[in-house]
Amino acid sequence: MDYQKTLTTARLTLRPPRPGDEDDLLAIHADPEVMRYFSETPWSDPERPARQIAQDAAAFAAREYFRFAIVLNETGRQIGNCTLRSLHWQNRRAEVGYALRRDYWGGGYMSEALRALLAFAFGELDLHRLEADIDPRNTGSTQCLERLGFQREGLLRERWIVGGEVHDSVLYGLLRREWAALTRSQ
Ligand SMILES: CC(C)(COP(=O)(O)OP(=O)(O)OC[C@H]1O[C@@H](n2cnc3c(N)ncnc32)[C@H](O)[C@@H]1OP(=O)(O)O)[C@@H](O)C(=O)NCCC(=O)NCCS
Repeated sequence: MDYQKTLTTARLTLRPPRPGDEDDLLAIHADPEVMRYFSETPWSDPERPARQIAQDAAAFAAREYFRFAIVLNETGRQIGNCTLRSLHWQNRRAEVGYALRRDYWGGGYMSEALRALLAFAFGELDLHRLEADIDPRNTGSTQCLERLGFQREGLLRERWIVGGEVHDSVLYGLLRREWAALTRSQ
């Protein structure tokens, strides 16, 4: 049977992507400011959201990777997404990725969404380690990860070439036992 999962927080619902999300998804990923340190250039193809939603929904159902649409309960609109990808079941690890619509930055929404994603990853999925690969200039993202307890583990030089521009990466890691200790102390 197709796998489905919904996560809830005080202000948000995280659910699998679905048809109807196209306009909100494009509003997130067509914005050059949101895509400044992303692994791809801003979206310009109007067909891209529908293709991405179909691919993400199928991958979610098959447990290949999990991209959650982040929906603001107050409006019912998607304001971002967060993803567990590059799943290595044997090593019990995955990478996290995320993006938030520019006009919702600074409201604590991504931290709130990622807390639920971490609980899902370390709880239901029983993962041991999560990683994030971030451009060192991406201060909003590094602060968000550090707030959640991720540790900076190393610099990977010139790891991405996006739109002809070469980017370094900082690798962040969070172990399940570190997350559990932080969660207990909060
Ligand atoms: C990375 C990104 C999601 C961070 O967004 P954000 O809104 O700064 O992240 P948070 O949810 O952690 O919010 C924290 C901010 O909200 C503020 N805030 C307001 N209300 C809050 C609340 N209730 N709880 C927590 N923080 C709150 C915090 O003070 C902080 O503001 P500051 O950065 O000015 O100190 C966003 O910058 C983004 O989408 N960037 C583009 C995509 C990207 O680069 N993704 C990473 C690569 S995979």
